[in-house]
Amino acid sequence: MNIMPDRLREISWDDALTLGSPYPYVLAVTIDKNERANIIGLGWWTFVSWEPKMIAISVGKGRYSHECLEYCKEFVLCFPSDEQREGAWLCGTTSGRNTDKFKEGGFKKLPANRVRPPLIEGATVAYECEVVDTRDAGDHTLYIGKVVAIHGTPEKPRHLYTIHYKKLLGLDHRGNMELF
Ligand SMILES: Cc1cc2nc3c(=O)[nH]c(=O)nc-3n(C[C@H](O)[C@H](O)[C@H](O)COP(=O)(O)O)c2cc1C
Repeated sequence: MNIMPDRLREISWDDALTLGSPYPYVLAVTIDKNERANIIGLGWWTFVSWEPKMIAISVGKGRYSHECLEYCKEFVLCFPSDEQREGAWLCGTTSGRNTDKFKEGGFKKLPANRVRPPLIEGATVAYECEVVDTRDAGDHTLYIGKVVAIHGTPEKPRHLYTIHYKKLLGLDHRGNMELF
């Protein structure tokens, strides 16, 4: 019998993004120069420091959120709960330049404790962050935020993951899953 060993081979960026899925999908809330809140969907984010607690987000230079972050160097990073998936998807596919994503996405604002952008009600977890550093990263800018407050909704544990940029899946911290 001819047994083929598992083979690691060169694949495209696109295929790698699919194969490496799912990725945690988050929403970053910012404010624009008119103090209007905007939300962007992000797959490119990560925790970067334990002490002080820090989170980095990578935002495309053409995004409205980039403009917002250049105006106010603060953001709220929210894990949308699975029941917020339609609004969460809108935030990743529509620009806030001409759309009120809070309204269109069915989100409700709650005041944050330490930063100007609001929290999203019903998010599984929300981190208030102050940008302490930025790095140019090709067509994106990396914003490194220090976490200044943390909120959670334990009643809504299931939050969203993306399969490439094509669909979402809901998963909680116990591993309970739902594919949409
Ligand atoms: C699954 C998914 C992940 C995304 N991840 C990022 C990301 O990490 N960084 C980014 O700049 N845009 C990302 N986007 C695209 C933005 O969310 C999208 O361009 C959005 O419309 C920008 O909104 P804005 O112009 O209001 O800032 C992602 C979109 C999807 C659907």
